[in-house]
Order: sequence, then structure tokens, then C-alpha cells
Amino acid sequence: MRGRGGGRGGGRGGGRGRGGGGMKGGSKVVVEPHRHEGVFIAKGKEDALVTKNLVAGEAVYNEKRISVQNEDGTKVEYRIWNPFRSKLAAAVLGGVDNIWIKPGARVLYLGAASGTTVSHVSDIVGPNGVVYAVEFSHRSGRDLVNMAKKRTNVIPIIEDARHPAKYRMLVGMVDVIFSDVAQPDQVCFLCLILFQPIVINNLQSVNNETKGGIFEFLFSLFLNYE
Ligand SMILES: C[S@@+](CC[C@H](N)C(=O)[O-])C[C@H]1O[C@@H](n2cnc3c(N)ncnc32)[C@H](O)[C@@H]1O
Repeated sequence: MRGRGGGRGGGRGGGRGRGGGGMKGGSKVVVEPHRHEGVFIAKGKEDALVTKNLVAGEAVYNEKRISVQNEDGTKVEYRIWNPFRSKLAAAVLGGVDNIWIKPGARVLYLGAASGTTVSHVSDIVGPNGVVYAVEFSHRSGRDLVNMAKKRTNVIPIIEDARHPAKYRMLVGMVDVIFSDVAQPDQVCFLCLILFQPIVINNLQSVNNETKGGIFEFLFSLFLNYE
């Protein structure tokens, strides 16, 4: 797909700035699928990681957008995904093997903040997926809730992720748990959540053997953690 980059949103440029960085205004851009389904690379003067905007015409955090015309004349809009603002984007660019997050996936996302990365996860899982986004700060939670008003596949949950009993009634079955709570005990968070029977009942796609494997993996991380 070919289109024109830049020109929308995120004027503060620069790799580390709050704006998108990447595409220069007016340059010709070709968008190609990335190895990870639902993620794309916009190839222009500089390459940039992008996701297909679930809510065309709307930026979430003033990021840059690229509009691309299909051969049939319809337009698709992509949002630039800045690796300096999202660890998940950095992991994708760094060559991580599998992110498990793909179109149609149901994701429990812990530590959503104001929804920067959550919005891209929402783009990736698309209209058939869902993101349960947990954040305990009411200040960040306000932006998260506002974002979710337009992105109907995001369910914002303003609760402490360490107490799944408080929000389990809001969360359906999930395929993936992503944690970015930035707490020294975040590995324990996951153990806590995976091994609370009430939540496990919801994690039907995780069988007991896998749960055992996950536990061993988390436990080894925990032992190596200082
Ligand atoms: C590094 S930031 C998350 C950034 C976000 N994942 C992104 O990429 O856009 C960590 C977030 O975790 C939240 N957090 C920390 N402890 C938490 C807890 N126990 N429950 C829910 N959220 C928590 C913080 O309030 C903060 O917003």
C-alpha cells in the first residue's frame, strides 16, 4: 500500500519526544506487514513501526498518523508507534520472538497508565479482540477511560492489579497477560494473578501443564531477581 506520510498530529517530532517521530511530512510511504500480525512498517525516508488506527481520524496521544490509499481507492490510516514511549514497541523493534498479541486476541493488560501502549494493542487486536486495561492511578485512569469511550474494544479497569478479586467480574477469558506495572515485585504480580483460582477459572485457554511451565519460569525469574 502506498500513501503520504506525516501531516497529522504529533508535531513535536524527534525520537524521544512526545510526538510520533518518523515520517517526514509529505513523503511517499509504503506500508508493509511486520512479522508480528497486526503490526506494520511504514517505509518512507525513515522506516517507522505503525498500527492500523481502529478509530480513523483520531490520535490518542498526539502521535503522527499516515493515511494510505488502497488500490480500490479506500483509505486506511496508521498511527506511528514510538519505541521510546512503549516498551512493547521497543521489544518488537528489538526482534522479540512472539508478542502473542494479535488480531482477535483477548488481552489482560496490567499497568495501562493513560493508554499509550494500550491504544496500539487495541489497534492490533482489532474489533474482534478485547483489551482489559488495569490501572490504579485515578489521574492516568481518567485519560484511559476517555480513550476507551472511542475504542470500544478497551475495557478500562481502575483497580489495583494485585487484587484480581476486585475486578475479576469485569474480565472475561483471556489469551494473553501483559504486565508493565513498573514495580520491583511485578513478577510476583503475575504469579499472584495466575494462581488465584478465581482468575484461573477465567483463563480456560491456559491448561494445567502450561500453568506449571509458566510457574517454573516465573519462579526462576523470581529466584534471579534482586
Ligand atoms: C510504566 S507505567 C505503564 C506504561 C504503559 N504500560 C504504557 O506503555 O503506555 C506503569 C503504570 O503502572 C501503574 N501501576 C503500578 N502499580 C500498579 C498496580 N498495583 N495496579 C495497577 N496499576 C499499577 C502505574 O500507576 C503506572 O501508570
